[in-house]
Amino acid sequence: MKLAKRMEKLPPYLFVEITRKIAEKKAKGEDVVSFGIGDPDFPTPPHIINRLCQAAQEPANHRYPETVGLPELRRAIASWHQNHFGVSLDADKEVLPLIGAKEGIVHIALCLLDPGDVALVPDPAYPPYTMGTILAGGKPYYLPLTEENDFLPDLEAIPNDILKQAKLVWLNYPNNPTGTVADLDLFQRVVSLARQHNIAVCHDAAYTEVTFDGYQPVSFMQTEGAKEVGVEFHSLSKSYNMTGWRIGMVVGNAEMIDALGRVKSNLDSGIPQAIQCAAIEALTGPQDSIKEQNARYQRRRDLVVDKLNSMGLQARLPKAGLYVWAKVPSSYTSVEFTNDLLEQVGVVVTPGVGYGKRGEGYVRLSLTIADASLVKGLSRLAEWRDRKSGLVKKAYLT
Ligand SMILES: Cc1ncc(COP(=O)(O)O)c(C=O)c1O
Repeated sequence: MKLAKRMEKLPPYLFVEITRKIAEKKAKGEDVVSFGIGDPDFPTPPHIINRLCQAAQEPANHRYPETVGLPELRRAIASWHQNHFGVSLDADKEVLPLIGAKEGIVHIALCLLDPGDVALVPDPAYPPYTMGTILAGGKPYYLPLTEENDFLPDLEAIPNDILKQAKLVWLNYPNNPTGTVADLDLFQRVVSLARQHNIAVCHDAAYTEVTFDGYQPVSFMQTEGAKEVGVEFHSLSKSYNMTGWRIGMVVGNAEMIDALGRVKSNLDSGIPQAIQCAAIEALTGPQDSIKEQNARYQRRRDLVVDKLNSMGLQARLPKAGLYVWAKVPSSYTSVEFTNDLLEQVGVVVTPGVGYGKRGEGYVRLSLTIADASLVKGLSRLAEWRDRKSGLVKKAYLT
Protein backbone atom coordinates (compact mmCIF):
# COMPACT_ATOMS: atom_id res chain seq x y z
CA MET A 1 0.00 0.00 0.00
CA LYS A 2 1.17 3.51 -0.74
CA LEU A 3 -0.52 6.48 0.88
CA ALA A 4 -1.39 9.49 -1.25
CA LYS A 5 1.26 12.23 -1.55
CA ARG A 6 -0.95 14.70 0.29
CA MET A 7 -0.54 12.61 3.43
CA GLU A 8 3.17 13.47 3.46
CA LYS A 9 2.20 17.12 3.94
CA LEU A 10 -0.44 16.42 6.58
CA PRO A 11 0.96 16.17 10.11
CA PRO A 12 -1.25 14.90 12.94
CA TYR A 13 -3.30 17.69 14.50
CA LEU A 14 -1.23 19.81 16.92
CA PHE A 15 -3.02 18.63 20.05
CA VAL A 16 -2.75 14.91 19.19
CA GLU A 17 0.96 15.03 20.09
CA ILE A 18 0.42 17.20 23.18
CA THR A 19 -2.37 14.90 24.44
CA ARG A 20 -0.09 11.90 23.87
CA LYS A 21 2.67 13.46 25.98
CA ILE A 22 0.22 14.25 28.80
CA ALA A 23 -1.13 10.66 28.74
CA GLU A 24 2.46 9.32 28.90
CA LYS A 25 3.22 11.43 31.99
CA LYS A 26 -0.05 10.49 33.67
CA ALA A 27 0.60 6.80 32.97
CA LYS A 28 3.84 7.20 34.96
CA GLY A 29 1.79 8.57 37.87
CA GLU A 30 2.92 12.18 37.36
CA ASP A 31 0.54 15.03 38.04
CA VAL A 32 0.21 17.29 35.00
CA VAL A 33 -1.45 20.73 34.93
CA SER A 34 -2.57 21.63 31.42
CA PHE A 35 -2.94 25.10 29.92
CA GLY A 36 -3.10 23.32 26.54
CA ILE A 37 -6.23 22.91 24.45
CA GLY A 38 -9.04 25.52 24.51
CA ASP A 39 -11.81 23.27 25.74
CA PRO A 40 -14.09 24.98 28.29
CA ASP A 41 -14.02 23.34 31.70
CA PHE A 42 -17.54 24.63 32.47
CA PRO A 43 -20.41 22.25 31.65
CA THR A 44 -23.02 22.92 28.96
CA PRO A 45 -25.79 24.98 30.68
CA PRO A 46 -28.56 22.72 32.10
CA HIS A 47 -31.42 24.14 30.00
CA ILE A 48 -29.50 23.14 26.84
CA ILE A 49 -28.83 19.62 28.14
CA ASN A 50 -32.50 19.24 29.15
CA ARG A 51 -33.59 20.11 25.62
CA LEU A 52 -31.02 17.66 24.21
CA CYS A 53 -32.32 14.81 26.42
CA GLN A 54 -35.92 15.60 25.53
CA ALA A 55 -35.11 15.75 21.81
CA ALA A 56 -33.22 12.44 22.01
CA GLN A 57 -36.50 10.78 23.11
CA GLU A 58 -38.38 11.98 20.02
CA PRO A 59 -38.39 9.29 17.26
CA ALA A 60 -38.37 11.96 14.53
CA ASN A 61 -34.86 12.80 15.72
CA HIS A 62 -33.62 9.23 15.33
CA ARG A 63 -33.59 9.44 11.54
CA TYR A 64 -31.13 10.89 9.02
CA PRO A 65 -31.00 14.66 9.34
CA GLU A 66 -30.95 17.02 6.34
CA THR A 67 -27.49 18.37 5.44
CA VAL A 68 -28.79 21.92 5.57
CA GLY A 69 -30.14 21.44 9.11
CA LEU A 70 -33.59 22.06 10.56
CA PRO A 71 -35.24 25.22 9.21
CA GLU A 72 -35.84 26.24 12.88
CA LEU A 73 -32.09 26.05 13.52
CA ARG A 74 -31.26 28.12 10.44
CA ARG A 75 -33.82 30.71 11.57
CA ALA A 76 -32.37 30.68 15.11
CA ILE A 77 -28.90 31.29 13.66
CA ALA A 78 -30.20 34.17 11.51
CA SER A 79 -31.96 35.78 14.53
CA TRP A 80 -28.85 35.37 16.69
CA HIS A 81 -26.84 37.33 14.12
CA GLN A 82 -29.54 39.98 13.91
CA ASN A 83 -29.59 40.36 17.71
CA HIS A 84 -25.82 40.27 18.19
CA PHE A 85 -24.54 42.21 15.23
CA GLY A 86 -27.58 43.79 13.53
CA VAL A 87 -26.87 41.63 10.46
CA SER A 88 -29.82 40.37 8.36
CA LEU A 89 -29.47 36.92 6.82
CA ASP A 90 -31.69 34.81 4.59
CA ALA A 91 -32.09 31.68 6.72
CA ASP A 92 -32.49 29.49 3.63
CA LYS A 93 -29.65 30.79 1.48
CA GLU A 94 -27.15 32.49 3.73
CA VAL A 95 -26.95 30.14 6.72
CA LEU A 96 -25.56 26.63 7.08
CA PRO A 97 -25.18 24.68 10.34
CA LEU A 98 -21.93 22.72 10.66
CA ILE A 99 -20.60 19.74 12.62
CA GLY A 100 -18.47 22.24 14.53
CA ALA A 101 -16.80 25.23 12.86
CA LYS A 102 -13.63 23.19 12.22
CA GLU A 103 -15.47 20.86 9.89
CA GLY A 104 -16.69 23.71 7.68
CA ILE A 105 -13.36 25.53 7.87
CA VAL A 106 -11.55 22.55 6.34
CA HIS A 107 -14.25 21.64 3.83
CA ILE A 108 -14.70 25.14 2.42
CA ALA A 109 -11.22 24.86 0.92
CA LEU A 110 -12.62 22.12 -1.36
CA CYS A 111 -15.17 24.64 -2.66
CA LEU A 112 -12.71 27.44 -3.38
CA LEU A 113 -9.32 25.98 -4.26
CA ASP A 114 -8.19 24.04 -7.28
CA PRO A 115 -4.82 22.27 -7.10
CA GLY A 116 -2.05 24.87 -7.15
CA ASP A 117 -4.30 27.79 -6.11
CA VAL A 118 -3.08 30.06 -3.35
CA ALA A 119 -4.84 30.59 -0.02
CA LEU A 120 -3.70 33.55 2.10
CA VAL A 121 -3.31 32.18 5.61
CA PRO A 122 -2.27 34.16 8.69
CA ASP A 123 0.86 33.03 10.53
CA PRO A 124 0.51 32.19 13.40
CA ALA A 125 -3.01 30.76 13.08
CA TYR A 126 -5.43 28.02 14.00
CA PRO A 127 -3.92 25.09 12.00
CA PRO A 128 -7.03 23.94 10.02
CA TYR A 129 -6.73 26.91 7.61
CA THR A 130 -3.47 25.44 6.36
CA MET A 131 -4.63 21.83 6.57
CA GLY A 132 -7.79 22.50 4.52
CA THR A 133 -5.64 24.25 1.93
CA ILE A 134 -3.30 21.25 1.72
CA LEU A 135 -6.17 18.75 1.49
CA ALA A 136 -7.59 20.74 -1.43
CA GLY A 137 -4.19 20.68 -3.18
CA GLY A 138 -3.75 24.43 -2.69
CA LYS A 139 -0.70 26.37 -1.53
CA PRO A 140 -0.75 28.47 1.62
CA TYR A 141 0.88 31.89 1.35
CA TYR A 142 1.46 33.10 4.88
CA LEU A 143 0.51 36.58 6.08
CA PRO A 144 2.80 37.35 9.02
CA LEU A 145 1.00 38.45 12.17
CA THR A 146 3.65 40.30 14.12
CA GLU A 147 3.71 42.16 17.38
CA GLU A 148 4.69 45.36 15.53
CA ASN A 149 1.44 45.13 13.54
CA ASP A 150 -0.57 44.22 16.64
CA PHE A 151 -1.02 40.75 15.09
CA LEU A 152 -3.10 42.12 12.19
CA PRO A 153 -2.20 41.24 8.58
CA ASP A 154 -0.36 43.86 6.52
CA LEU A 155 -2.52 43.75 3.39
CA GLU A 156 -0.33 46.25 1.52
CA ALA A 157 2.66 43.93 1.87
CA ILE A 158 1.10 41.06 -0.11
CA PRO A 159 2.94 40.86 -3.46
CA ASN A 160 0.86 41.48 -6.58
CA ASP A 161 1.71 38.14 -8.21
CA ILE A 162 0.45 36.36 -5.07
CA LEU A 163 -2.79 38.35 -5.14
CA LYS A 164 -3.28 37.25 -8.76
CA GLN A 165 -3.04 33.57 -7.75
CA ALA A 166 -4.99 33.87 -4.49
CA LYS A 167 -8.52 32.48 -4.34
CA LEU A 168 -9.12 32.66 -0.63
CA VAL A 169 -8.04 34.71 2.38
CA TRP A 170 -8.43 33.57 6.00
CA LEU A 171 -8.98 35.93 8.92
CA ASN A 172 -9.71 35.13 12.56
CA TYR A 173 -10.68 37.77 15.14
CA PRO A 174 -10.83 37.58 18.13
CA ASN A 175 -7.65 35.75 17.27
CA ASN A 176 -6.40 32.35 18.30
CA PRO A 177 -3.58 32.15 19.40
CA THR A 178 -2.58 35.83 19.87
CA GLY A 179 -5.74 37.14 21.59
CA THR A 180 -5.87 40.21 19.33
CA VAL A 181 -9.15 41.75 18.17
CA ALA A 182 -9.84 43.51 14.87
CA ASP A 183 -12.04 46.44 13.96
CA LEU A 184 -14.36 47.11 11.04
CA ASP A 185 -11.70 49.18 9.30
CA LEU A 186 -9.56 46.05 8.73
CA PHE A 187 -12.61 44.15 7.48
CA GLN A 188 -13.49 46.99 5.10
CA ARG A 189 -9.97 46.97 3.66
CA VAL A 190 -10.19 43.19 3.24
CA VAL A 191 -13.50 43.57 1.36
CA SER A 192 -11.85 46.09 -1.01
CA LEU A 193 -8.90 43.77 -1.61
CA ALA A 194 -11.24 40.83 -2.20
CA ARG A 195 -13.33 42.79 -4.69
CA GLN A 196 -10.29 44.06 -6.53
CA HIS A 197 -8.63 40.64 -6.89
CA ASN A 198 -11.67 38.34 -6.85
CA ILE A 199 -10.65 36.60 -3.64
CA ALA A 200 -13.13 34.85 -1.33
CA VAL A 201 -12.94 35.88 2.33
CA CYS A 202 -13.40 33.40 5.16
CA HIS A 203 -13.56 34.96 8.60
CA ASP A 204 -13.44 32.64 11.60
CA ALA A 205 -15.34 34.32 14.45
CA ALA A 206 -15.41 31.41 16.88
CA TYR A 207 -14.52 33.63 19.87
CA THR A 208 -16.80 36.67 19.50
CA GLU A 209 -18.74 35.75 22.64
CA VAL A 210 -15.77 35.37 24.98
CA THR A 211 -15.01 39.02 25.77
CA PHE A 212 -13.47 40.98 28.65
CA ASP A 213 -13.53 44.48 30.11
CA GLY A 214 -16.76 45.34 28.25
CA TYR A 215 -15.21 44.80 24.80
CA GLN A 216 -17.89 44.74 22.05
CA PRO A 217 -17.02 42.20 19.33
CA VAL A 218 -17.56 42.96 15.64
CA SER A 219 -18.66 40.65 12.85
CA PHE A 220 -17.15 40.62 9.36
CA MET A 221 -20.76 40.54 8.16
CA GLN A 222 -21.28 44.07 9.49
CA THR A 223 -18.92 45.36 6.81
CA GLU A 224 -20.40 46.92 3.69
CA GLY A 225 -20.03 44.40 0.83
CA ALA A 226 -19.08 41.46 3.10
CA LYS A 227 -21.82 39.20 1.80
CA GLU A 228 -20.65 39.81 -1.76
CA VAL A 229 -17.20 38.37 -1.05
CA GLY A 230 -17.24 36.11 1.96
CA VAL A 231 -18.55 34.08 4.82
CA GLU A 232 -18.09 34.00 8.59
CA PHE A 233 -17.77 30.91 10.75
CA HIS A 234 -19.12 30.71 14.30
CA SER A 235 -19.11 28.01 16.89
CA LEU A 236 -21.30 27.05 19.83
CA SER A 237 -18.28 25.31 21.36
CA LYS A 238 -16.75 28.15 23.33
CA SER A 239 -19.74 30.31 24.28
CA TYR A 240 -22.10 27.50 25.33
CA ASN A 241 -19.44 24.94 26.36
CA MET A 242 -20.56 22.57 23.62
CA THR A 243 -17.21 21.39 22.24
CA GLY A 244 -18.27 17.77 22.75
CA TRP A 245 -21.57 18.10 20.91
CA ARG A 246 -19.94 19.35 17.71
CA ILE A 247 -22.02 22.19 16.39
CA GLY A 248 -21.19 25.45 14.63
CA MET A 249 -22.36 27.47 11.67
CA VAL A 250 -21.32 29.51 8.66
CA VAL A 251 -23.18 32.54 7.32
CA GLY A 252 -22.84 34.98 4.46
CA ASN A 253 -22.30 34.69 0.71
CA ALA A 254 -25.07 32.50 -0.75
CA GLU A 255 -22.90 30.97 -3.50
CA MET A 256 -20.21 29.90 -1.02
CA ILE A 257 -22.85 28.55 1.39
CA ASP A 258 -24.50 26.60 -1.42
CA ALA A 259 -21.15 25.14 -2.54
CA LEU A 260 -20.24 24.06 1.00
CA GLY A 261 -23.71 22.53 1.40
CA ARG A 262 -23.12 20.54 -1.80
CA VAL A 263 -19.75 19.24 -0.59
CA LYS A 264 -21.23 18.34 2.77
CA SER A 265 -24.25 16.59 1.27
CA ASN A 266 -21.78 14.22 -0.38
CA LEU A 267 -19.59 13.85 2.71
CA ASP A 268 -21.68 13.74 5.85
CA SER A 269 -25.31 13.10 6.59
CA GLY A 270 -26.02 16.15 8.68
CA ILE A 271 -25.91 17.02 12.36
CA PRO A 272 -27.79 14.66 14.71
CA GLN A 273 -31.15 16.37 15.13
CA ALA A 274 -31.23 16.22 18.93
CA ILE A 275 -28.03 18.27 18.89
CA GLN A 276 -29.63 20.73 16.49
CA CYS A 277 -32.52 21.10 18.97
CA ALA A 278 -30.01 21.75 21.75
CA ALA A 279 -28.35 24.39 19.54
CA ILE A 280 -31.70 26.14 18.97
CA GLU A 281 -32.16 26.24 22.75
CA ALA A 282 -28.62 27.60 23.19
CA LEU A 283 -29.08 30.38 20.63
CA THR A 284 -32.61 31.41 21.62
CA GLY A 285 -32.72 30.58 25.37
CA PRO A 286 -31.29 32.46 28.37
CA GLN A 287 -27.84 33.92 27.74
CA ASP A 288 -26.85 34.86 31.33
CA SER A 289 -24.34 32.02 31.71
CA ILE A 290 -22.08 33.67 29.09
CA LYS A 291 -21.66 36.84 31.14
CA GLU A 292 -20.90 34.89 34.33
CA GLN A 293 -18.44 32.69 32.51
CA ASN A 294 -16.65 35.61 30.91
CA ALA A 295 -16.22 37.18 34.35
CA ARG A 296 -14.56 33.95 35.51
CA TYR A 297 -12.33 33.76 32.43
CA GLN A 298 -11.40 37.40 32.97
CA ARG A 299 -10.26 36.66 36.55
CA ARG A 300 -8.20 33.75 35.25
CA ARG A 301 -6.77 35.92 32.47
CA ASP A 302 -5.65 38.51 35.00
CA LEU A 303 -3.98 35.90 37.23
CA VAL A 304 -2.17 34.29 34.29
CA VAL A 305 -1.03 37.57 32.70
CA ASP A 306 0.20 38.93 36.05
CA LYS A 307 2.16 35.80 36.82
CA LEU A 308 3.73 35.55 33.37
CA ASN A 309 4.69 39.22 33.37
CA SER A 310 6.20 38.88 36.82
CA MET A 311 8.34 36.10 35.32
CA GLY A 312 9.44 38.43 32.51
CA LEU A 313 7.52 36.48 29.85
CA GLN A 314 5.78 39.57 28.39
CA ALA A 315 2.21 38.32 28.23
CA ARG A 316 -0.38 40.36 26.35
CA LEU A 317 -3.70 41.21 28.01
CA PRO A 318 -6.34 39.88 25.59
CA LYS A 319 -9.68 41.68 25.20
CA ALA A 320 -11.36 38.49 24.00
CA GLY A 321 -10.85 34.78 23.40
CA LEU A 322 -9.62 32.01 25.64
CA TYR A 323 -5.87 32.46 25.36
CA VAL A 324 -2.88 34.30 26.72
CA TRP A 325 0.02 34.70 24.28
CA ALA A 326 3.38 35.19 25.94
CA LYS A 327 7.04 35.37 24.95
CA VAL A 328 9.38 32.54 25.86
CA PRO A 329 12.71 33.34 27.54
CA SER A 330 15.20 34.30 24.82
CA SER A 331 17.49 31.32 25.43
CA TYR A 332 14.73 28.84 24.46
CA THR A 333 12.77 27.94 21.35
CA SER A 334 9.05 27.58 22.01
CA VAL A 335 9.32 23.78 21.85
CA GLU A 336 12.34 23.69 24.19
CA PHE A 337 10.53 25.91 26.67
CA THR A 338 7.36 23.82 26.47
CA ASN A 339 9.30 20.58 26.98
CA ASP A 340 11.25 22.08 29.87
CA LEU A 341 8.07 23.18 31.67
CA LEU A 342 6.56 19.73 31.21
CA GLU A 343 9.66 17.87 32.34
CA GLN A 344 10.59 20.16 35.22
CA VAL A 345 7.27 21.13 36.74
CA GLY A 346 4.58 19.11 34.93
CA VAL A 347 2.94 22.12 33.26
CA VAL A 348 1.59 21.96 29.70
CA VAL A 349 1.56 25.07 27.50
CA THR A 350 1.33 25.08 23.71
CA PRO A 351 4.45 26.02 21.70
CA GLY A 352 3.82 29.01 19.45
CA VAL A 353 5.57 27.36 16.52
CA GLY A 354 2.67 24.86 16.39
CA TYR A 355 0.64 27.75 14.93
CA GLY A 356 3.21 28.61 12.28
CA LYS A 357 6.78 29.84 11.83
CA ARG A 358 5.90 33.32 13.15
CA GLY A 359 4.62 31.75 16.35
CA GLU A 360 8.21 30.87 17.25
CA GLY A 361 9.32 32.70 20.37
CA TYR A 362 5.86 32.49 21.96
CA VAL A 363 3.69 30.09 23.94
CA ARG A 364 -0.07 29.98 24.32
CA LEU A 365 -1.84 29.36 27.61
CA SER A 366 -5.51 28.43 27.59
CA LEU A 367 -7.83 29.81 30.27
CA THR A 368 -10.10 26.75 30.14
CA ILE A 369 -8.61 25.25 33.26
CA ALA A 370 -10.38 24.83 36.60
CA ASP A 371 -9.50 27.59 39.10
CA ALA A 372 -7.71 25.26 41.55
CA SER A 373 -5.55 23.74 38.78
CA LEU A 374 -4.82 27.21 37.43
CA VAL A 375 -3.51 28.35 40.81
CA LYS A 376 -1.45 25.16 41.10
CA GLY A 377 -0.12 25.62 37.57
CA LEU A 378 0.88 29.24 38.22
CA SER A 379 2.73 28.36 41.40
CA ARG A 380 4.60 25.66 39.46
CA LEU A 381 5.56 28.24 36.86
CA ALA A 382 6.93 30.43 39.65
CA GLU A 383 8.83 27.45 40.99
CA TRP A 384 10.29 26.83 37.52
CA ARG A 385 11.48 30.45 37.42
CA ASP A 386 12.97 30.23 40.92
CA ARG A 387 14.73 27.01 40.08
CA LYS A 388 16.16 28.49 36.89
CA SER A 389 17.40 31.51 38.75
CA GLY A 390 19.06 29.19 41.26
CA LEU A 391 16.72 30.03 44.13
CA VAL A 392 15.35 26.48 44.41
CA LYS A 393 17.66 23.57 43.72
CA LYS A 394 15.38 20.60 44.44
CA ALA A 395 13.76 18.90 41.42
CA TYR A 396 10.01 19.46 41.48
CA LEU A 397 8.77 16.06 40.39
CA THR A 398 10.69 13.74 42.64
C1 LIG B 1 -10.09 29.87 15.83
C2 LIG B 1 -10.92 28.65 16.01
N1 LIG B 1 -11.89 28.37 15.13
C3 LIG B 1 -12.65 27.28 15.25
C4 LIG B 1 -12.46 26.39 16.29
C5 LIG B 1 -13.24 25.12 16.36
O1 LIG B 1 -14.57 25.29 16.71
P1 LIG B 1 -15.51 24.02 16.73
O2 LIG B 1 -15.36 23.38 18.07
O3 LIG B 1 -16.87 24.62 16.50
O4 LIG B 1 -15.10 23.10 15.62
C6 LIG B 1 -11.46 26.63 17.23
C7 LIG B 1 -11.22 25.68 18.31
O5 LIG B 1 -10.32 25.75 19.10
C8 LIG B 1 -10.67 27.79 17.08
O6 LIG B 1 -9.69 28.06 17.94
